[in-house]
Amino acid sequence: MASHPKIVAIGGGKGGVGKSTVSILLAFWFARMGKKTILVDADLGGANLHTFMGIKNPPRTLNDFVTRRYDSLEEICLDTELENLRLIGGASDILSLANIHVSQKAKLIQNLSRLDADYVIIDLGAGTSYNVLDFFLAADKKIVVLIPQPISIQNAYAFIRNTMYRRLSQLVNQKSSLQSLIKTAMDTNNELKVRTVSELLQIVEELNGKEAMSALQGEIRRIQPFVITNMVRTNRDKGAGRVIQMVADKYLMIRSVDLGSIVYEQKLYTTVTEMLPLTSLIQSSEAFASVYGMAVTLLRDD
Ligand SMILES: Nc1ncnc2c1ncn2[C@@H]1O[C@H](COP(=O)(O)OP(=O)(O)O)[C@@H](O)[C@H]1O
Ligand SMILES: [Mg+2]
Repeated sequence: MASHPKIVAIGGGKGGVGKSTVSILLAFWFARMGKKTILVDADLGGANLHTFMGIKNPPRTLNDFVTRRYDSLEEICLDTELENLRLIGGASDILSLANIHVSQKAKLIQNLSRLDADYVIIDLGAGTSYNVLDFFLAADKKIVVLIPQPISIQNAYAFIRNTMYRRLSQLVNQKSSLQSLIKTAMDTNNELKVRTVSELLQIVEELNGKEAMSALQGEIRRIQPFVITNMVRTNRDKGAGRVIQMVADKYLMIRSVDLGSIVYEQKLYTTVTEMLPLTSLIQSSEAFASVYGMAVTLLRDD
């Protein structure tokens, strides 16, 4: 029996920061390094991975699984022109990940981890709904993509913050006083004046003791997101991931890993506007080359 694939989820940034591009570039490298890889387009509101991959109308998509037209995800996998790389396409109509039911979510997560692959890379799209956060949290490797602009840094931070609170909320009883404390602390202007996670944990310790507090702290530490800064034009731009790393550590007690940056490359932009597959220019792409080290880091400990 084959072991379960590792799940890599890409999320965090708003539309346009390059989540889909990063998903593809990583998938290409994984496949090229001999890992059986499946790329999943879970951005059901704005699915476009198939276009990037040169497939105009995917005959089967993730929606066909969610709406039960197919029973197994394996059946909706599409071959690509690259060895070791398959695609589960998305479709922009019918539904979004935000709206799928709890039971569908559990089934989907379970089926993803049963796919015949070494790695499953999920492009989560731009949402911050509970479903998106839950997919992100369920992943073995969690990647947040941002671009070197203040608003994007803020969005990435907010996403990590939401993820952290979602995790805390999953861990404590829904009806407990801790649950309402966590809900209150999530509001940045809460009346308890809790501004950082360490302040929150201090209250948890007062209310429920040191053990309860340490357990939550341990879970927060385990989240460990990776951060990628895309569309970098200057040396200064490269520091955006570092900023996230610092503030996430300071305010959220989250230890993130800065995976580095990807250069802005005009021809990448043009491919999409001209509807050319990314595959056509990958060999000569500097952005593609900048992802190599990231792929190596992500694969290193497995
Ligand atoms: N490093 C880059 N250099 C130049 N253009 C890029 C780069 N990364 C992404 N793009 C372009 O930016 C646009 C948005 O990228 P996309 O991956 O679709 O973002 P998202 O999935 O986050 O919405 C696309 O046209 C894409 O080709
Ligand atoms: Mg996208």
